[in-house]
Amino acid sequence: MRIFMDTANIEEIRRGAALGVVDGVTTNPSLVAKEGVEYRQRVLEICEALDGPISAECISMELEPLIEEARRVAAWHPNVVVKIPMSEVGLQATKRLADEGIKINTTLVFSANQALLAAKAGTTFVSPFIGRLNDAGHDGMELIREIVAIYDAFNLPAQVLAASIRNPRDVTEAALAGAHVATIPSTVLFQMVQHPLTDRGIEIFLRDAQKYSPV
Ligand code: E4P
Repeated sequence: MRIFMDTANIEEIRRGAALGVVDGVTTNPSLVAKEGVEYRQRVLEICEALDGPISAECISMELEPLIEEARRVAAWHPNVVVKIPMSEVGLQATKRLADEGIKINTTLVFSANQALLAAKAGTTFVSPFIGRLNDAGHDGMELIREIVAIYDAFNLPAQVLAASIRNPRDVTEAALAGAHVATIPSTVLFQMVQHPLTDRGIEIFLRDAQKYSPV
């Protein structure tokens, strides 16, 4: 499973990139607003910090303006993937943009049918929002399983990108459910490295290593 960071914070992205296990980044308007920076500039900084798909979201709600915006955003950098929210207009735009070779991440996906339509329109990534579904009393992970099964059954090439992840267990379950990618908030990514028994083990080994001469 590929690992993306779900943040627009450049220091966090640089720290994540240094791990050598991060394959891409997703942003959204809320994440960028939190940073108080200019969007294009920040996306370019992210592209500089990490070599992989970098999702940047469009906000136009009508077809032609959305297609124009998506073309502009895609031209920022070869690694940019244009994020388009699921809707009738979003599907039409996805079909046309995918035909032009522009990579799309269909966002705000909450049902298997939405994911099926997005794949048929030619999206590259489909982003089911696990956490927001769970918050609403549904089973986010079951949605991942359904989408993976449908894509597998019909050899649809779109990749399932598990989004709205809230904790390390969500990452494990997304992997078990067959998600191709998980986009992970920085805190969760760095938590994944940790285990109290690892820390305790290191402490004991370092203490015992004092008892013999180093090689
Ligand atoms: C990523 O592509 C999504 O925009 C993000 O995971 C949404 O997460 P949230 O539900 O925590 O806002």
